[in-house]
Amino acid sequence: MQSLKLAVIAAIAIGFGGSAQADLKPSSGFGKPITQAELSAWDIDISTSDGVGLPSGSGTVAQGAKIFAEKCATCHGEGAKGGTQFGQMFGGLDSMTTPKRKLNPSSMFPYAPILFDYTKRAMPMDAPQSLTNNEVYALSGYIYSLSGLVPKNATIDAKYLSNMKMPNRNGFISDDRPDAKAVRCLSKCN
Ligand code: HEC
Repeated sequence: MQSLKLAVIAAIAIGFGGSAQADLKPSSGFGKPITQAELSAWDIDISTSDGVGLPSGSGTVAQGAKIFAEKCATCHGEGAKGGTQFGQMFGGLDSMTTPKRKLNPSSMFPYAPILFDYTKRAMPMDAPQSLTNNEVYALSGYIYSLSGLVPKNATIDAKYLSNMKMPNRNGFISDDRPDAKAVRCLSKCN
């Protein structure tokens, strides 16, 4: 009985597989080729170590301060001093080599474009991916300026972020404990 049930399930699965494959044939008349514009709305990946993939656009620290007050301060507090959802988001640049590390984009991130990538993708948490590229550049400049990594009168763009030397750039060390060997493998790994 059990094996009959399994056989029926397998037959149904094969049936579905078959019809799904048929739907993929171009002759079905369904669907249309994706355009470059549609694709780029999804393709927001940035290579954070060199900034490749950062979009065009720019924003100033002053604009960032204004946007932050409007769209971020409810959760992050006025001036990113800490709010209902998250603690202070600046300072502590010298803390990373002490037992009391203060983790935030300025103290922790090895590469400046990580802040752009994260903010564009995930913030504001209640409306992710609602910010324009210019707004994200402005916000990145503002957040880094609070730690003194960017001057208050700066205009931030792809080149600016890619060229920033972050204080914790060389602070990451590989885990060389013998029981934690994580060998990178992309094919034929077993
Ligand atoms: C509705 C609440 C909310 C709003 C609004 C919001 N955030 Fe956040 N944000 C969070 C939470 C919660 C986290 C922590 C997420 C986690 O740890 O996974 C976070 C984390 C972050 C971080 C990571 C900080 C770090 O040190 O790793 C950044 C940067 C950030 N938010 C930027 C922004 C910016 C810029 C805005 C405004 C455009 C914004 N957030 C608006 C809730 C919010």
